[in-house]
Amino acid sequence: DWTSDVFIDATIDELKQKLGDDKVVMGLSGGVDSSVAATLIHRAIGDNLVCVFVDNGLLRKHEYEEVLDSYKHLGLNVIGVDAKQRFYDALAGKSDPEDKRKAIGNTFIEVFDDEAHKIQGVKWLGQGTIYPDVIESVSVNGPSATIKSHHNVGGLPDFMKLKVVEPLNTLFKDGVREVGRALQIPEIIIGRHPFPGPGLAIRVLGEVTPEKVSILQEVDHIFIQGLKDDNLYDEVWQAGAILLPVQSVGVMGDERTYEQVVALRAVTSVDGMTADWVHLPYEFLGKISNEIINKVKGVNRVVYDISSKPPATIEWE
Ligand code: XMP
Repeated sequence: DWTSDVFIDATIDELKQKLGDDKVVMGLSGGVDSSVAATLIHRAIGDNLVCVFVDNGLLRKHEYEEVLDSYKHLGLNVIGVDAKQRFYDALAGKSDPEDKRKAIGNTFIEVFDDEAHKIQGVKWLGQGTIYPDVIESVSVNGPSATIKSHHNVGGLPDFMKLKVVEPLNTLFKDGVREVGRALQIPEIIIGRHPFPGPGLAIRVLGEVTPEKVSILQEVDHIFIQGLKDDNLYDEVWQAGAILLPVQSVGVMGDERTYEQVVALRAVTSVDGMTADWVHLPYEFLGKISNEIINKVKGVNRVVYDISSKPPATIEWE
């Protein structure tokens, strides 16, 4: 029978054998998979694992600092890289969703490669690939690949020439969470909602600017913090806010305003392939809407997305 303790012991032994005294470099995303994979590799080879965590300027409010802190508490040898401006520059002038994803993916590879080159004698690339990612990337020529280029499996640039180590590639998400809890990775990482690699860039519809990201971070923070405060966070599979490229008329005192609209989205799902919108309490939605409009300058209207997947997707881009 599978237990997380047996899996952990067997995997650490296997990693020790496979990696010996070799060095491994690994990009961390703040998500569950890469964090658990890194912790396992670290248990096997210690500081011969060098982790890289990139601030792409598209993370949630305070996320970079909080996650970097958690990694340091876990004892991981982690390098934080502030690459915000490189990502904003790469995104400037781009409004097509796939162009935006490509710009972000390419910039990540450049930034990561710069860091990897600084590490002497690195032989392996660690990855948080889980079993469903393996399945998905097998059918790369199938229709799903043309819908969205989600994952980076096998997308390794030639110049990196590293062998790949993926300790979680036989597990489903639940197994990864169980292993993560057994490894005592903090709940702020393990219980975290899924978050797309391109981050807030695909929730700022159209062209991304630092100003728009900053507005969305404030809105998103109010929504997510509200879910946590009202014990709704764990009942939701994924939640977030979307900054729409729409302005609408409002009133403030005697003045007319003409400001941005944001949409809130919260879904339940098992694997992201299908999803239902969550019937959040009206009182909660009302409270969050008021808070957003009162506190976030530039936003005068909040709507709630009540579409399920399919036919709508979870993200709007
Ligand atoms: P959709 O919008 O296709 O999203 O219903 C399904 C799940 O995938 C996430 N998602 C992405 N994750 N890179 C990622 O790493 C992406 O480009 C991307 N696009 C969507 C989405 O957040 C949801 O969990």
